[in-house]
Amino acid sequence: MCTPFSGRGKAFAWLPAGLFSVAVLVTPLTFASLLYAADSGDKSREAESSLVSFEIIDNIHSKAIPKSLTGKKGNPKRGEVVMINRKLGNCLACHHLSRFDEKAKALPNKYGDMGEVGPPLDAVAERYDAGQLRLLLVDAKEVFPDTIMPAFYKVKGLHRVLPDYEGKPILEPQDIEDVLSFLLTLK
Ligand code: HEC
Repeated sequence: MCTPFSGRGKAFAWLPAGLFSVAVLVTPLTFASLLYAADSGDKSREAESSLVSFEIIDNIHSKAIPKSLTGKKGNPKRGEVVMINRKLGNCLACHHLSRFDEKAKALPNKYGDMGEVGPPLDAVAERYDAGQLRLLLVDAKEVFPDTIMPAFYKVKGLHRVLPDYEGKPILEPQDIEDVLSFLLTLK
């Protein structure tokens, strides 16, 4: 009988023992690099021409947009305004943030009714770095292919776009940088 890892298994039975462990290590790596190579056309993709160009870095561990879309730093206070604005980020429709609990009581029109469709944004800067968060904002589907989180900086390949928004991203590049700078305070 052949239980996993209890013996060499049929596939490697022809190998000398020393080589067996090498094969076990190398085979998945080779496979992974083949997959990776197949994907390398995607590796650094230029954004559609109407948008500022950015490069998505895709390594095996994470995908990210390491560089600022505008070359400028974000303003976290403005980022908060973009996030709560229902026509802009509207992040609170899907995300709860404990830091806003007090404000939600005081200003229910702006901060109230925080949703739970997405994970809470508390301490999100401990889970992702700036480049990963930037990509999540630009196009969350790059990270979570089936997500309902909108791509905030994308104009092609979108579904159900309101006529006023056709050809326009939901957020401007500086909005993305401002929201990002706010998210980076969530530690
Ligand atoms: C329509 C709902 C929706 C909106 C609006 C939305 N998100 Fe999300 N977001 C999600 C969901 C759902 C996920 C979880 C990913 C998945 O689908 O598995 C997510 C994931 C995230 C994550 C990763 C969180 C983690 O812990 O992994 C961040 C950060 C994030 N969203 C930030 C934002 C910000 C900032 C905004 C506003 C600019 C926003 N989201 C708007 C639904 C939304």
